[in-house]
Formats: sequence, structure tokens, C-alpha cells
Amino acid sequence: MSIIIDGKKIASNLRNELKKEITELKKKYGSVPGLAVVQVGNVAASSVYVKAKTKNALEVGIEVIDHHLDETITQELLLDLINNLNKQSNVNGILVQLPLPKQIHEQTILDAISPDKDADGFHPVNVGKLSIASNNDNNLLIPCTPYGCLLMLRGLKIDLVGKNAVVIGRSNIVGKPMAQLLLKESCTVTIAHSKTNNLPKICNNADILIAAVGKPEIVRGEWIKEGAIVIDVGINRIEVEINGEKKTVLVGDVKYNEAFKKASAITPVPGGVGPMTIACLLRNTTIAFKNSNLNV
Ligand code: GUN
Repeated sequence: MSIIIDGKKIASNLRNELKKEITELKKKYGSVPGLAVVQVGNVAASSVYVKAKTKNALEVGIEVIDHHLDETITQELLLDLINNLNKQSNVNGILVQLPLPKQIHEQTILDAISPDKDADGFHPVNVGKLSIASNNDNNLLIPCTPYGCLLMLRGLKIDLVGKNAVVIGRSNIVGKPMAQLLLKESCTVTIAHSKTNNLPKICNNADILIAAVGKPEIVRGEWIKEGAIVIDVGINRIEVEINGEKKTVLVGDVKYNEAFKKASAITPVPGGVGPMTIACLLRNTTIAFKNSNLNV
């Protein structure tokens, strides 16, 4: 029997805690955290994420400063906007939704965001702090998806020390920071990826398996060790035929029905990691607000 890890519920609990905290912060400082949400163009998936991030931010009492820009914007103009947001005192967090159009060099934009306002935790200073810091993460700006995965693991109340953790995926957004976080929990961490030799065998050794490779249902039941914890970061839209009709459905990187039979705990898609990513963005914005008030 597998526990289904309820990301929606854990994220809702985190948002409720943040809402209470923001009420207290407003009493203390006379202002609330502000999040600038920057979207360039109209990539469908980005619009869905930005809408959900905005809605959730407003619900917990964060002020949202919305900047929806045309997809033809130049890198120079986008940098001007980031520089202005860096200077605005009511902006504590800046989120630039990725991907950006091809005329814009993503890392140049991420580097331009003040590390103190880096709601995503993608700036090299924050990447460095994450890799250096010991296990006190209360004032660090940590990438939201891997931190959300860690909170779900901690919620299981099992001892993570010494566990074999395998992360499939080496992205800057998920795979690499996930490995850092697990290392800080004293897991033995393997980072695998799409070019890893004999991936099923490596996964078979995982007590904790984090799938963040972006390939629909690549992880099969036989790859999973009996009793492993499986966290599925993948959000893939695929076309299936139901009763002769073509439909688009969301699936993870894990073949859920097969993995469910082997795992001791597993995240569903949707309703697993997704809501946690957004809740952790709100957490980072609140941390940035608190840090800025400590620094005055
Ligand atoms: N695009 C996909 N995931 C993310 C994320 O976590 N943050 C941002 N800014 N863009 C994304």
C-alpha cells in the first residue's frame, strides 16, 4: 500500500501559515510583502502558472505588481524593467516566468535580479549560498520546486539520514538544487539524467527517487525499489485517445499506476509537486520581505 502524498493539502497548510505570518508582519512593519510578476509573451503554460501564482499570492496577503510584456520586447528594455524593480521599495520579490523568448538571454536576466529580491532563488549568489549553507534554511532564497519536494519528504516524518536518493534531472531549476537540499539532509545523492547509462539499475537503488527529467512516464514500475518514496516533478501534456476521442492529459515523469504498486509513498500529477512550487514562491517572497526589514 502506497501513501499518496497530498501536495495540495501540504501547500494549503503552508499558505495558511504564511497568511497568518503576513498579518503579523503588517502589524509590525505597516506594510506587506510585494511580488513583481514578469511575464513575457503568451506561452500557454506560463500564463497558467502566472495566473495561479498571482491568485495564491493575493490570497495570502502579498501585493502583486504585474508586468505582462510583449513577446518582441528587447533584452535591453527587460533589463531596464528589472533594474527599476530592484530599486522599488514596495517590491520584495521579483519573478520572471521562464522560458523567455529567444532574443533574450535568460541567465543575463536572472543575473540582473537583485539577489535580495530573487523570489525564485535562481541568482548565482543564492545558488552559491545554498551550496555553502549548513542545514539552516530559514532565511535563504531556495528554488521553489525542490524546496517543495523537500517539505513533502519532511512531512512523511521518516529519517532521511543515510538514505540513497536518486535525482533524475540536472536542471538549474530542479535537479541541481534538489541534490544540494538532499545532501544537507545527509542523504547519499546520485544525480542521473537522460544520458545516464543503465538508468533503471541506478533508480533501483533509490530509497528516495526524484523524477525531474521532463519525459512523460519514463520511470516504470520495475525501476522502483520496493518501499521507495517517489516524488514526480514532471508535468507533461500528452494526447491520449479515450473512447475514440483525442484528449490532452497531464502526466508526470513516472508511470503512476505501476509505481504506486511498488512505492511506500508517491506524489500524484497533478496535485503533488505543482501546488508546492507556488507555495514556496510565496514563502521566498515573505523571507525576502523579512530580510529587507532586518537590513534597514
Ligand atoms: N518556468 C518553469 N518553472 C519555473 C519556475 O519555477 N520559476 C520560473 N520563474 N519560471 C519557471
